[in-house]
Amino acid sequence: MSEDKALITRLIQHPYQPPAGFMAPQPGVHKASTVIFPNVAALQARDWKEKSGYTYGLHGTPTSFLLEERIATLEGGRDALLVPSGLAAITLVDTALLKSGDEVLIPGNAYGPGKELARQELARWGITHRFYDAADPAALAAMIGPATRLLWLEAPGSITMEFPDLRALVRVARDKGVLSALDNTWGAGLAFNAFDLGEGLGVDISAHALTKFPSGGGDVLMGSVTTRDPELHLRLKGTHMRMGWGVGMNDVEAVLRGLPSMALRYAAQDAAGRTLARWWQQQPQVSQVLHPALPQSPGHVHWTELCTQAAGLFSVVFDERHERNKVHAFIDALQLFKLGYSWAGPVSLVVPYDFAVIRPGTPWRGTLVRFSLGLEDVRDLQADLAKALRATFGAD
Ligand SMILES: Cc1ncc(COP(=O)(O)O)c(C=O)c1O
Repeated sequence: MSEDKALITRLIQHPYQPPAGFMAPQPGVHKASTVIFPNVAALQARDWKEKSGYTYGLHGTPTSFLLEERIATLEGGRDALLVPSGLAAITLVDTALLKSGDEVLIPGNAYGPGKELARQELARWGITHRFYDAADPAALAAMIGPATRLLWLEAPGSITMEFPDLRALVRVARDKGVLSALDNTWGAGLAFNAFDLGEGLGVDISAHALTKFPSGGGDVLMGSVTTRDPELHLRLKGTHMRMGWGVGMNDVEAVLRGLPSMALRYAAQDAAGRTLARWWQQQPQVSQVLHPALPQSPGHVHWTELCTQAAGLFSVVFDERHERNKVHAFIDALQLFKLGYSWAGPVSLVVPYDFAVIRPGTPWRGTLVRFSLGLEDVRDLQADLAKALRATFGAD
């Protein structure tokens, strides 16, 4: 730029372009709201839905396109959309596919905030919902009526970890002409292929909290919605665009950085989770350990049909003879396990749940405690649990 321009102008509109062809294993990070077009014809010709070019930062930069492609590959899908959280992925599916007068069916053991979305916003918009028992595909088939448009699935169920017969549930949806959407956060694309469950069956949509395994750092919130059917993708993409649910490229970069180590972390947390789940089975204070890879856990047989791996996540039910306050004192006595929500980060976490709140009307008794394994040495974690148990319950 010529010297007749002010310094500030020359700094902002600097002519230097670094040479093309830089190659490194790590992707570049492209951040922008504005995308510059070479001329008016190019601006007018550009279609925001097409991924052959760029229109506006909200619709993607090379960085978000890259993560979308990698998530689609991870999940065995064709297209992926990125949203600001795992919960937003659920919201996107509901808002894109449901309208007033429609019904959505949700497993009773689904992720709580997704159920609350149905009770609050969907209800206000005239969209009805019913909760179904994911352990009973025949009962589900009987529930589906002319207004049913969408079937949510989750494997395993949140917190209580029952693994459903996913194939049977998907078959019901397919036979009844209802779209199926799976919250695939637990399987994460590693434990099973949601789009190819065998017997020619697969879900239509996978919603995934990238906050968990793909990120792995516990420092970013993001979600994705993956599909195989291009038309379904376009329906979701339209709502995604009109709602303005874009993501920040620094967050995309964080997830891109987590992806290469994801399979290793998943396996390590799985191994640690099974070690501790089996250890808990020996502890007299608990009446049940809920982990789909344990033969005594609900739906274990369905887990074996689809999976060899499991996320490093399990729950224990303290026997009802133990007061809730005592269980809470045990949690407070833990030092390595931190008290807090989420999972799949480097730090092990613990949260108590009240059956009356999370599963009202079920016969469960006692206090449930959910553990999510981080990446600490499992021997230290086991010692932490044993010490807190001794401090709270003595020799029982
Ligand atoms: C099964 C499941 N789905 C979705 C979410 C929501 O993810 P996010 O925290 O990114 O909104 C969570 C979060 O804990 C979850 O456990």
